[in-house]
Amino acid sequence: MAIALLLHLVAATLWVGGMFFALLILRPAALPLEIPQRVGLWTRVLERFMKVVWGIVIILPITGYWMIFAGFGGMQGLGMHIHIMEGLGWCMIALFLVIHQRAFRPMQRMYAELLIPEAGLYIERLRKLVQINLLLGLAVIAVAGAGRYW
Ligand code: HEM
Repeated sequence: MAIALLLHLVAATLWVGGMFFALLILRPAALPLEIPQRVGLWTRVLERFMKVVWGIVIILPITGYWMIFAGFGGMQGLGMHIHIMEGLGWCMIALFLVIHQRAFRPMQRMYAELLIPEAGLYIERLRKLVQINLLLGLAVIAVAGAGRYW
């Protein structure tokens, strides 16, 4: 149980912290760059971050259900905050798959074909979707951490 919770917390922290860093720290710092440099930077940054998030979206449900079935004895009698976390968690994972397939992959392809303005458009789409996932992630953390006291 302790190992599952530890892995779960580390995965959640890296995912939500990574999205926060990308949107609120790296993005404004990269804005003064010329568009080709900016698109290149985002392509390289996201290629690394997406690989990490693939691991995270596998670890989070595995450790979550591990705690539910090995620690809490199954789905019945679970606190409402855990059901909400589970539901929002799957929404985040589904949105990650959309981001990966409908924004990141096309952006990567456009950049490889040197279609820089087109790649920039996909970065903009990616930014909007990641904004939603960051808000969902913060909501999940609030519910997961404080929900049992509500
Ligand atoms: C995919 C489905 C998920 C399931 C089934 C799940 C399940 C669980 C369970 C059973 C716990 C232990 C709760 C307790 O000790 O009271 C937990 C804790 C936690 N989860 Fe999740 N979780 C999921 C997704 C997520 C996501 C996406 C995040 C954040 C991005 C997240 C963040 C947390 C946090 C911060 C805690 C620690 C709460 C605390 O002990 O104070 N979980 N989760």
